[in-house]
Amino acid sequence: MLNKKIVFSGVQPSGNLHIGNYLGAIAQWVEMQAKYNCIFCVVDYHAITIKQDPEVLKKKIIEVAKIYLASGIDPKKSIIFQQSDISAHTELTWILNCVARISDLNRMTQFKEKASINLDSLEAELNAMKNSEWMKSLVKQLSPIIRDRYEKEEDLIRKVYDRCISSIYNELEEYKNNQENVNVGLFDYPVLMAADILLYNTDAVPVGEDQAQHVELCRTLGRRFNSQFGEVFKIPEVVIRKEGARIMGLDDPAKKMSKSAESEYNFIGLTDKPEAAAKKIRKAVTDSGKEIKYDEKTKPAISNLLTIYSLLVGKSVKQLESKYKGKGYGDFKKDLAEMVKKFLTDFQARYKKISDKEVEKILENGAKKVKPIADETLERVKEKIGIN
Ligand code: TYM
Repeated sequence: MLNKKIVFSGVQPSGNLHIGNYLGAIAQWVEMQAKYNCIFCVVDYHAITIKQDPEVLKKKIIEVAKIYLASGIDPKKSIIFQQSDISAHTELTWILNCVARISDLNRMTQFKEKASINLDSLEAELNAMKNSEWMKSLVKQLSPIIRDRYEKEEDLIRKVYDRCISSIYNELEEYKNNQENVNVGLFDYPVLMAADILLYNTDAVPVGEDQAQHVELCRTLGRRFNSQFGEVFKIPEVVIRKEGARIMGLDDPAKKMSKSAESEYNFIGLTDKPEAAAKKIRKAVTDSGKEIKYDEKTKPAISNLLTIYSLLVGKSVKQLESKYKGKGYGDFKKDLAEMVKKFLTDFQARYKKISDKEVEKILENGAKKVKPIADETLERVKEKIGIN
C-alpha cells in the first residue's frame, strides 16, 4: 500500500456533470484505484471563479461526491475530500503565485476561451454580410421612395449596413468591457490547481485533454520552485486516456462537451432523466454520408458517438464499425440511445442509494486523512522560503 504511486484529480462542483467528465476523467480514476493510492477532490474553490449561487453550490458539492461514489470510487480504497476543508491549498497557492509569472498564465488557452470572445472573427463575419445576398434582398424590400433617393444600390446597402451594424458593434464593445471585468480568480485558477496537485507528492494526474496544459503549468511551477529554493515537490505526470479524452458536444462536434454549454442538447448530464438523455442522442447532429465509420476529420459527429458507444459498452470502435456495416445513422443512434438510457438508469439507481449524511461523513474522513500530508508539504515549503 505504502509503495503505491499517488494519483490526484478533481472535478469542479459547477454546472451539470456530463458523460464527458465521466468518460474522460472519472471512469479512468475508477480503474486506477487498484494500482495506485488515489486522492479525489471536490474542488469547490475552483468553482467560485465563476459566480455561483451559494445554495446551489452547497448542493453541487454533495452531488459531485455522490457522482464519484456512484461511478465506483470506493472510499475504503481511495480518499475523497472537499478542497476548502484543507487550508493548505489556498496558502500554497499564494506562495506559488509568487513563483508563477503573468506570462505563464497568459498562455492558458482555457482562460482565453472563458474570458473572451474572438472579436476579429466576429468583425470579419459582419463585414462579409455587407456583400451577402441577404443584404441585397433586404434593400430590395425597402419602399421605392427610399430606394429612388440612391443612384447606386451599393450606397443604400452601405447605409443600411452601417445603421444595423453600429448597434452590433456597441454590443461588441460591451463584451470587451466584460472581458476586462473577468475576476482575478479565473486567471489564477491554474495556480490553485498546481497547489492541489503538488501538496500530495502526486505521481500521476488523470484528466481530460482540456486540463493537460494546466498540469504542464503545475510541472513548470514545481520545477521552478525546486530550483529556486531547493527540492520539495515531486513533479507529476499527466495521464490522458487515448479514447474519450475529449468528448465533443452532441450539437456541435467541433467543440468539446461542456458543463456550461448554452444548449442542453450539447451534453448528456449524469443526472439527466434517462429518457430525455436518449432523446438527446437521437437528436445528435450527424455528418454527411451514411456509413458508420470512425474518421475524426470527415466524420467528427459519428466518430464522437462511436467513442461514447465504445467506452460505455466496452467494445472497440472497430467491433462497432463491423456491427453497423450496411446500417444507417438512424439504427446506430437508436441503439446508442438505449445504451445511454441503460447506463444512466443503473448509474442513478446507485446514486439515489447514497444519502447526504453518508457523503458528509466520507468527506469529513477524507479531510482528516489528507490534512497531515498537505500540512507537512506546506511546512517544508515555508521552511524553504524562510517563513517558518
Ligand atoms: P472540470 O471540473 O472542468 O472537469 C473535470 C474533468 O473532466 C474532464 N473533462 C472532459 N473529458 C473529456 N471530454 C470532455 N468534453 C470533458 N470535459 C471535461 C476534465 O479534463 C477534467 O479532468 N481544473 C479542473 C479541476 C481540478 C483538477 C485539480 C484536476 C482542480 N484541481 C487537480 C486535476 C488535478 C477542472 O476544472 O476540471
